[in-house]
Amino acid sequence: MLRTHTCGELTISHVNQKVTLCGWVQRSRDLGGMTFVDLRDRYGITQLVFNMETQAELCNKARGLGREYVISATGIVSERSNKNPKLATGDIEITVEHFEVLNVSKTPPFTIEDNTDGGDELRMKFRYLDLRRNSLKNNMMLRHKMAFETRNYMNANGFLEIETPYLIGSTPEGARDFVVPSRMNPGEFYALPQSPQTFKQILMVAGYDRYFQIVRCFRDEDLRADRQPEFTQIDCEMSFITQEDILVIFEGLVHHLFRNVKGMEMGKFPRMSYADAMQQYGSDKPDIRFDMRFVELTDLAQNKGFKVFDEAELVVGICAKGCSEYTRKQVDELTDWVKRPQVGAAGLVYVRCNADGTFKSSVDKFYSPEELKQWAERAKAQPGDLLLILSGKTEKTRKALGDLRIEMASRLGLRDPNKFAPLWVVDFPLLEWDEEANRFFAMHHPFTAPKPEDIPLLDTDLKSVRANAYDLVINGSEIGGGSIRIHNKEMQNRMLNILGFSNEEAQKQFGFLMNAFEYGAPPHGGIAFGFDRFCAVLGGQDSIRDYIAFPKNNSGRDVMVNSPSTLHEDQLNELQIKLNLNPAK
Ligand code: AMO
Repeated sequence: MLRTHTCGELTISHVNQKVTLCGWVQRSRDLGGMTFVDLRDRYGITQLVFNMETQAELCNKARGLGREYVISATGIVSERSNKNPKLATGDIEITVEHFEVLNVSKTPPFTIEDNTDGGDELRMKFRYLDLRRNSLKNNMMLRHKMAFETRNYMNANGFLEIETPYLIGSTPEGARDFVVPSRMNPGEFYALPQSPQTFKQILMVAGYDRYFQIVRCFRDEDLRADRQPEFTQIDCEMSFITQEDILVIFEGLVHHLFRNVKGMEMGKFPRMSYADAMQQYGSDKPDIRFDMRFVELTDLAQNKGFKVFDEAELVVGICAKGCSEYTRKQVDELTDWVKRPQVGAAGLVYVRCNADGTFKSSVDKFYSPEELKQWAERAKAQPGDLLLILSGKTEKTRKALGDLRIEMASRLGLRDPNKFAPLWVVDFPLLEWDEEANRFFAMHHPFTAPKPEDIPLLDTDLKSVRANAYDLVINGSEIGGGSIRIHNKEMQNRMLNILGFSNEEAQKQFGFLMNAFEYGAPPHGGIAFGFDRFCAVLGGQDSIRDYIAFPKNNSGRDVMVNSPSTLHEDQLNELQIKLNLNPAK
C-alpha cells in the first residue's frame, strides 16, 4: 500500500506516529513562516503542515502544489494548537518530512466544495470532479448502503437474486423501447428491457417462488427530475401469496432500509384507495406530510347565479392555513400559476377568512357572507385562512388542484425533506381510457389481474374494473408499484384482446408467456421499487440525477462520454442499416 492511513481517520490517539497519507490537494495556504495543505481523500481531510524555518526546501516545494494535485506525504502526527472541531481529524495535523507528487492536475473548471460554482452541464462533463464533492460522495455511499441492506433483507427472507437478459424483444405496450440492431440477424433488433416483468413471471412458472434483482431498466421517454432513460429497480416477485402478503413483506423491506440506512423507526404505513386519493388529493401519489385535503363545494356553490360554477361538474377547494393576508399581487400570481398550460385551470376563486371573522371573496357579487361562511365551515377554515377554489370537469379540476396543493405546500414550507410520510395506494383501476388513441390501456401493465370480484365487469363496464395493484408513495413520489398477476392463458389472452391485440398478435408478442402459463403457472404477484428514486427521497431530494454516478442530461445525453454518437459507415454497413435522416433530400 502506498499509504498507512486514510485522510479521515487520524485522531489525538495517533500523535507522534509516523504516517503516510495519499490524496488530493484541496487547498494550500501560505502564511509566510508556515504552509498548510488540506489533503483530501474519500474518507476526509487532514491538514499537512510545512515549516519554513526548519524545512525551507520542502516548504518551497509545497508552495508549488496546485489544487487537485495528487500527492503522497509522510510525516509525524502532531496535536494542533488551534483545533478544528468541525473536522473529524481537526485535533491533529501532519508535520511533513517528505512528500511526492504522484500526479499533477489542471485547475478544475469549478470548485470542489460543498457549494460549488459549477453549472449543471459543466459538472456533468467533468463528472469525475463533481463526484469528488462531499454531497455526491455521500449520495453514492447512501446508494451503496441501500443496495447492500436490500440484499441483506431479501436474502434473510429467502429471496434469490437472479439475473435476466438485457437483450430482449420489443413489445408495443408501455413506454418506447431502446433498440439494438443484431449483426447476426440483419434487419432484426433487440430491445433493452423496460423492466424484467415477463422474465420474473416465467421464473415463477419455473418454481423460483421468491425472486429479486437490483436491475437496470431502460425506457425511451421524456425526461424529468425523477426520470432517467436508464434507471435501477429493486425488482421482486413471489408465488403463492395474496396482495396482503406482498404489502407486509415489502413494507418490511422499507422499514429495514429506514432503520439501517437512516436510523429511523417507521410506524405502520397507512393505506388509501386510488379513488380516495384522487378525490381527496387529486393525485395517485399524494404527499401526506401535510393535510390540505380537498373540500368539495359543488352543492353549496351552484345555483347562485355564478355561471362558471353552475356549469362546472365539480367545484372544489383547499384551505391554505394562515394565508388570508395574501396581497392582491400574490393572489394574481397564483391565478397566473394555475392558468399555465402545465396546470391548465381556467381561473382561481378565493375566499379570505379575515381575522375579524368577515369574509372577502373574488365572487362576492354572487354569494352572501353567510354562504361563504358555510364554505369556510365545510373546509374547517379558521380566521386567517384562505380558501382557493377551482372548478370544471372533475378529473382535470382535481389534477389542477392537486398541483396547486403541492405548490402551496412548497410555498408554506410544509414539504420538510427530513420528514417521511409513506403511503400505500391500493385498488387501482385495471384500465384507463385514452381519448387520443381511442382505446383502453393497462393502468399498470397488461399482466395485472383484475380483482376476482370485478371479473364480471369485464363484460359490462371496463372502466370500473379494479385490480389488485398497489403503489408505494413516499412524500408524494411514486417509489414502487406492483400487482397480482394473471396466471392463466385464457385470461391473459382476454386482457390482450381488451387492449386491442388480436389473438394472433397476442400470440406473436406474448406467446412465450402465455405458453408458459400452460405448464403449471402458480398464482403470483410482485412489486418493483425505483431504486434511484428511493435513494433520492431518503436523501431528501427531488432529483434522482445526483444519486446516479453517471446520469444522462435532459436530452438523454451523457455529456462526459458524448453519447449517443454516430456510427462509422463500416459499422452501419455491417449491420445493414441505411440512414435516412432527411428524407426531403
Ligand atoms: P413501474 O413501471 O411502476 O413498474 O416501475 C416501478 C418503479 O420504477 C420507478 N421508475 C423510474 N425511475 C426512474 N426513471 C424512470 N424513467 C422510471 N420509471 C419508473 C418508479 C416506479 O414506481 N414491472 C413493473 C413492476 C411490477 O409490476 O412488479 C414496473 O416496472 O419508482
